[in-house]
Amino acid sequence: MRIPKYTRREFCVHSFQTVSLAAMATAITGCGGSSSSPTGPTGLPSLSTINATIVNSAITLTIDTSSPLSAVGSAALVNASGRSFLVSHTGQNTFTALTAICTHEQCTVSTFANQTFECPCHGSQYSTSGTVLKGPATRSLTSFTTNFTNNVLAITTG
Ligand code: FES
Repeated sequence: MRIPKYTRREFCVHSFQTVSLAAMATAITGCGGSSSSPTGPTGLPSLSTINATIVNSAITLTIDTSSPLSAVGSAALVNASGRSFLVSHTGQNTFTALTAICTHEQCTVSTFANQTFECPCHGSQYSTSGTVLKGPATRSLTSFTTNFTNNVLAITTG
């Protein structure tokens, strides 16, 4: 049985449109920039989250063995009173605390590995002291004073 020419042509046009739509869908879903991604653009793992409260401009965290911040070299995303902070355990008795809001376009920085924080939106990377290691961000993360005494970490947010 012969397939009429116009039928084959219609089939090809329809197929092309279908493939184009599928390619567009792939391109759209393949775009970066989703802040709900479980990992950063380079695959860094998400930070553990700690919920806390700001009281008198300070956050107080007990650092015991069950804390995600117990080990030197660890870090966590601390959500407190509607604000987000990146806290890292940098030495035996030293910690750093930074705003978690990326200086590029204000996404929440939420992934970490090898002493490097990464923004899930466009891949900016910061050191544990807040310095930009990789753009597009050009400004450091604001840091806050920390004090660690008797296993209690106090972060002055004010
Ligand atoms: S908002 Fe963080 S890299 Fe763009």
